Amino acid sequence: MKEYARLIDRDRVPRHVAIIMDGNGRWAKKRSLPRVEGHRRGAQVIESLMDTAIGLGIGVVSLYAFSTENWSRPKDEIAGIWRLLEMFFEANIEKIKKKGVRLRHSGSMRHLPASTRRIIEDSVGQTRNNRIITLNFCLNYGGRQELLDAVNGWAASRKHEEKLSERALERHLYTAGLPDVDLLIRTSGEHRISNFLLWQVAYAEMIFTRVLWPDFKPRHLYRMIYEYQQRDRRFGGL
Ligand code: FPP
Repeated sequence: MKEYARLIDRDRVPRHVAIIMDGNGRWAKKRSLPRVEGHRRGAQVIESLMDTAIGLGIGVVSLYAFSTENWSRPKDEIAGIWRLLEMFFEANIEKIKKKGVRLRHSGSMRHLPASTRRIIEDSVGQTRNNRIITLNFCLNYGGRQELLDAVNGWAASRKHEEKLSERALERHLYTAGLPDVDLLIRTSGEHRISNFLLWQVAYAEMIFTRVLWPDFKPRHLYRMIYEYQQRDRRFGGL
């Protein structure tokens, strides 16, 4: 772990890292535990990840915690995820504030339990002026839905004959004000984007690992940041 941490060029860390935290269910199944136990261990990983990201000087970390497609899961698993989220915010809010973490939510609040909605809004509000790092929880998030909401939002505020531009659309995304994703990580061996930050990953580097999310350690992130720094990002140029 120390090796990769030492090799990282601190002046070229990605500004925005987005993570598809996959494999919680398989982690639990391997141990004959209920799926929600995998999610609980997955939520614990976020605490150490936050410290590692702060130490590296990463500006934004986006976490895919619940997609618009996840509603098709069993009701008790969904309820378990909301409970875990509420517990995460309650247990960590003081630490989060002390560390200068700004919380954001990307996604729709529609259909979220009122208690979950309240705690998210409250935590986002309490941390609004923090500047050390932004932790962007993508909850009830879908990339296509985000684009539709953005276009509709723009259309509603459109001035006479104005044409839609990239900048205008970005102002209406859930992630308005956040930079594009530089590095997209997906755990558990799947090689898909799964409707995550479709607009924002346009030029992202992608790293896939077979590690299941509950097993994800700081050393995995160090190695990935190092690998990211070996890539030649040309953004369509030469
Ligand atoms: C994907 O694994 C994971 C999710 C759909 C939920 C992620 C949720 C958490 C990490 C906990 C929520 C709490 C916080 C604080 C964000 P999967 O269930 O699809 O795994 P599988 O593919 O192995 O079945």
